[in-house]
Amino acid sequence: MEESTQPRTLTTAAGRPIFDNQNSLSAGPRGPLLLQDYFLHEKLAHFNRERIPERVVHAKGSGAYGTFKVTHDITSLTRAQLFSQVGNQCRIFLRFSTVGGEKGSADTERDPRGFALKFYTPGGNWDVVGNNTPVFFVKDPVKFPDFIHTQKREARSNLKSATMMWDFWSLNPESLHQVTILMSDRGTPYGYRHMHGFGSHTFSLINAQNERTWVKFHFRTEQGIKNFTNEEAAQMKAQDADFAQHDLVDAIDSGNFPRWKMFIQTMTQEQAKTFRWNPFDLTKVWPQGEFPLQEVGVLELNEVPVNYHAHVEQAAFAPAHVVDGIGYSPDKMLQGRILSYPDAQRYRLGANYEHLPVNACPYGFSNYQRDGQMALGNNGGPGPNYFPNSFDGPAEDKTVGEPDQELDGLFADRFDRNVGPGDDDHYTQPGNLFRLLDAQAQRNLIDNIVGSMRGIDGPKKDLIIQRQLCHWFRADIRLGMAIAKGLGVDVEMPTQHLQPVAAAAG
Ligand code: HEM
Repeated sequence: MEESTQPRTLTTAAGRPIFDNQNSLSAGPRGPLLLQDYFLHEKLAHFNRERIPERVVHAKGSGAYGTFKVTHDITSLTRAQLFSQVGNQCRIFLRFSTVGGEKGSADTERDPRGFALKFYTPGGNWDVVGNNTPVFFVKDPVKFPDFIHTQKREARSNLKSATMMWDFWSLNPESLHQVTILMSDRGTPYGYRHMHGFGSHTFSLINAQNERTWVKFHFRTEQGIKNFTNEEAAQMKAQDADFAQHDLVDAIDSGNFPRWKMFIQTMTQEQAKTFRWNPFDLTKVWPQGEFPLQEVGVLELNEVPVNYHAHVEQAAFAPAHVVDGIGYSPDKMLQGRILSYPDAQRYRLGANYEHLPVNACPYGFSNYQRDGQMALGNNGGPGPNYFPNSFDGPAEDKTVGEPDQELDGLFADRFDRNVGPGDDDHYTQPGNLFRLLDAQAQRNLIDNIVGSMRGIDGPKKDLIIQRQLCHWFRADIRLGMAIAKGLGVDVEMPTQHLQPVAAAAG
């Protein structure tokens, strides 16, 4: 029996009615207290255990339930039950977040925003754990903890440090594309409703003929893109640190349900083999001119969860959660994330975190996992707890196998070399992005970069600035010159760095 939400008698956790919730049991009116006041012990002890570890990244967030509806037929590409016919609907849960700050940090910090979606489908829960950007800072998961350390607090001062950030970025030119987006006004979105979401990685779609197509997922805001400028974001930080939470809850509570249209980009396996750069490289986008967006469905948020901790804080998303008809890709970052999320959640929420209502598949699950802390439900009941068995326990489904995946390397190594000529080009796409912006957006980008790089300090200051300036120059000469000027760095045209690498990205 669940905790009642109706007004009724106050009880202990074990259900015993409580006589007095204002006065501890004491020997005489002035104390001391009696050891037998179990109600007091229970109350204080539970309070001491109210905090669970916050997410190691994306700790500050907001979430809501809603619905997803399929509007276009993609059955030729996927056999996922969710997409079996136009008009199919399912319940969803979407959690937005900032990345680097703690659970109490301000919503308007310059940061990517998380866009984590759980589709509760009859074929199991499908999670798309993405961001509001189509690319990421690094392309190998082994770099992730180091990168995140630079976004958190410096070891001695316990302060955020522009020196750490730019030191890391300047030593990892593959981060330039994401850093360019981060430093643009998209780094400070106006709450969570006015930004796009991206699955970012390449995934697979697998159809009824067991054929694989590579896919990227996009969620485009129906509210229109709206960003804060740097100054507005700073002002809002002082005015309302929880602006994005307010904005989301207020919109849903007033019936102004936010919506996103879902699109896919697809690439055949043949196209992938001959593509100009690694199509599984998370630091690069697939040009939409060559791989157009195809509309798939629409999602709407229409329900604020009744309890933040139960639903938003205990939500556990994982790129590992795909369903039949949707699969992984060789993207090294995705591969790293498949392991990392459930591991984090076993630590953060416990071994049976999938039993929590926000995480549980509403259509049920059946397996031979038993016991462990906080096993909710009946723990498999009297059924067999081993496989194979002769007692009608859950059986394998031989219809859900995936097609073979051809691998392009037959030997294992730690590869720091690239396969295609475009793989090492970290400059064309960020440069293209800069050139796409209108004049005001370019000025904002330059000001934001200059403002942030001014924070670089200490004995390596000049080295870090010079190194990073070279990257900006290689992306776009005008951008490099403007940043150098803003920083007061006297650059003699460094001709060896002025030539953007041969155009690889479209
Ligand atoms: C949260 C690891 C890259 C988006 C997390 C969490 C971990 C993690 C451990 C906390 C999970 C939890 O406690 O529930 C990693 C690793 C990465 C990586 C190891 C690279 C190898 C990415 C990328 C994206 C992303 C590329 C987006 C494209 C998110 C989001 C959340 C998250 C949205 C918050 C999910 C929520 O709302 O609960 N990440 N991450 N991460 N990550 Fe990553």
